[in-house]
Amino acid sequence: MRVIITKDYEEMSKEAARIVVNRLKEKPDLVLGLATGSTPLGLYRELVRIHKEEKLSFAEVRTFNLDEYIGLKPDDPASYHYFMFENLFNHIDVRKENIYIPDGLAKDPEKYCQWYEEQIEKAGGIDLQVVGIGRDGHIGFNEPGSSLASRTRVKTLDEQTIKDNARFFPRLEDVPRFAITMGVGTILEAKELLFLASGTEKSDIVAKAIEGPVTSLVTASIMQIHPKVIAVLDEEAASSLQRKDYYRYAEEQARRFEGGFV
Ligand code: GLP
Repeated sequence: MRVIITKDYEEMSKEAARIVVNRLKEKPDLVLGLATGSTPLGLYRELVRIHKEEKLSFAEVRTFNLDEYIGLKPDDPASYHYFMFENLFNHIDVRKENIYIPDGLAKDPEKYCQWYEEQIEKAGGIDLQVVGIGRDGHIGFNEPGSSLASRTRVKTLDEQTIKDNARFFPRLEDVPRFAITMGVGTILEAKELLFLASGTEKSDIVAKAIEGPVTSLVTASIMQIHPKVIAVLDEEAASSLQRKDYYRYAEEQARRFEGGFV
């Protein structure tokens, strides 16, 4: 795993955007996996800015989101559909038919999840998947104890997750108890992962995910077995990492040697 430690949230977002933009320039029809939550907001803002100011086009891009709550309509302000359109899709030239977000209203969720997996496969797989981390170590909505081979499916949300995400809802009782999420196995199949984390409240779980044992109790720890992961963390999120001095040093060397090779 390549670990890039940035000064703050702003710099983390810019660094992440630089990586996405580089991949997009290499492959204009990039298959881009996207995440929600507060963490990638700065990345999305930066991508919108680059699209507007530097005319970067997303016209050929296909996107797949990690997850969606069960039972929320796409126009519900707390849904991940709404979040994605509001914060990214409405401001770039991505084509509507190229956007995939799990349908939390699917009549037959099991069948639907299989269909979602097939769409990823048909697109040729995800080239670059953006992931954040929940305070209980989840990626997507793969709560502790999820099978590390799991595929897209319905998951029951952990109490901690419900509390953490309550800030997006009028009341705690309004947070759905279930979500559709790509599985850990689905995420692992992305060709590259871009892992973002920010803030002190994430530092302990980030250390477990990057340096702890690979365990279903911290589903994000599975990233350790993926061949191509770039973790972009701010100072605060990186503060509990044992090897942070090494990561800084390695990054400095890599940039000097390759002149910035991401
Ligand atoms: C939700 C999402 C995750 C996200 C996590 C962290 O649970 N399903 O994909 O990583 O929240 O959110 P935040 O970035 O707001 O801390």
